[in-house]
Amino acid sequence: MTQLKRNFLDIADLTSVTLREILNAAARMKKEMRLGLHERHSRTLAHRTLAMIFEQPSTRTRISFDVAMNQLGGYALLLPRDQLQLERGESIQDTARVISRFTDCLLLRTGDSAHLALLASHASVPVINGLTNFSHPCQVMADVMTFEEYSGPVAGRTVAWVGDGNNMVHSWLHASARLGFSIRIATPVAYQPDAQVVDWARREGANVLICNSAEEAVTGVDCVMTDTWVSMSDKDVGQRRAAFEGYCVNQSLMALAATNAIFMHCLPAYRGEEVDNTVIDGPQSVVFDEAENRLHVQKAILSWCILGDF
Ligand code: CP
Ligand code: NVA
Repeated sequence: MTQLKRNFLDIADLTSVTLREILNAAARMKKEMRLGLHERHSRTLAHRTLAMIFEQPSTRTRISFDVAMNQLGGYALLLPRDQLQLERGESIQDTARVISRFTDCLLLRTGDSAHLALLASHASVPVINGLTNFSHPCQVMADVMTFEEYSGPVAGRTVAWVGDGNNMVHSWLHASARLGFSIRIATPVAYQPDAQVVDWARREGANVLICNSAEEAVTGVDCVMTDTWVSMSDKDVGQRRAAFEGYCVNQSLMALAATNAIFMHCLPAYRGEEVDNTVIDGPQSVVFDEAENRLHVQKAILSWCILGDF
């Protein structure tokens, strides 16, 4: 009998109820760790294995998933693409079928979202999106968790995105529809998010404002976010640096947001480009809590994917 697979490919694919369950479980596990009660979840994934295929570099995603599996009593295998037969032409389909015979869950980071779709459709175990050129849902779950730790429930609030309309924004748009908050986006015209994602979010009831300037986007918001101007999958490096002039998050931009607004960045950051030192290292920045929360959210995502429970 074929069992329904719980893939974590995009926030858009999950219900608001499941997303909230994942966020609640992450917060609970974080609290238990702080209180020294981590034995409560230290065997949840005993004898379970996660295979992590990386076609692009990673610090946070790779380490947080590895440590998460370990803390839940399971095991994570790191599989750089160039050390697999994939690199010599074995198909993604066969790779998915074979790794599914050995492990309980697969994670892929890739610059080609079609690879993720192919892997997910041929794997018989759950598949997690560890970032594609299109989206980065695990990161945005950690971001929402961080927002709520500092600023309370995200529903009904307003966040601003300044800079590139990239994979991060697509996942934020998915989250705005599923979790009921408003998002304002300021990007150069040539670097706006995918119009289909914006349309999808609006159809699903999200309040999305595409702004003409960074100043318009951030005025009065609860959270200001940005990301690198040059993502791992981008080739037009020189062109980008010129296009994003005027989109640096600096102190005068932050001053337009609500007085208790937070600053978030998924990292890695390029100080002096998309964000000034004074902001990322300043009092409103929560970027290292955001990075830590990857660990807690990964545990909840893994538990949901592998067990359907927490
Ligand atoms: N934010 C994030 O995904 O970081 P890594 O590229 O280091 O995994
Ligand atoms: N947008 C960035 C995110 C890195 C975590 C990239 O894709 O390189």
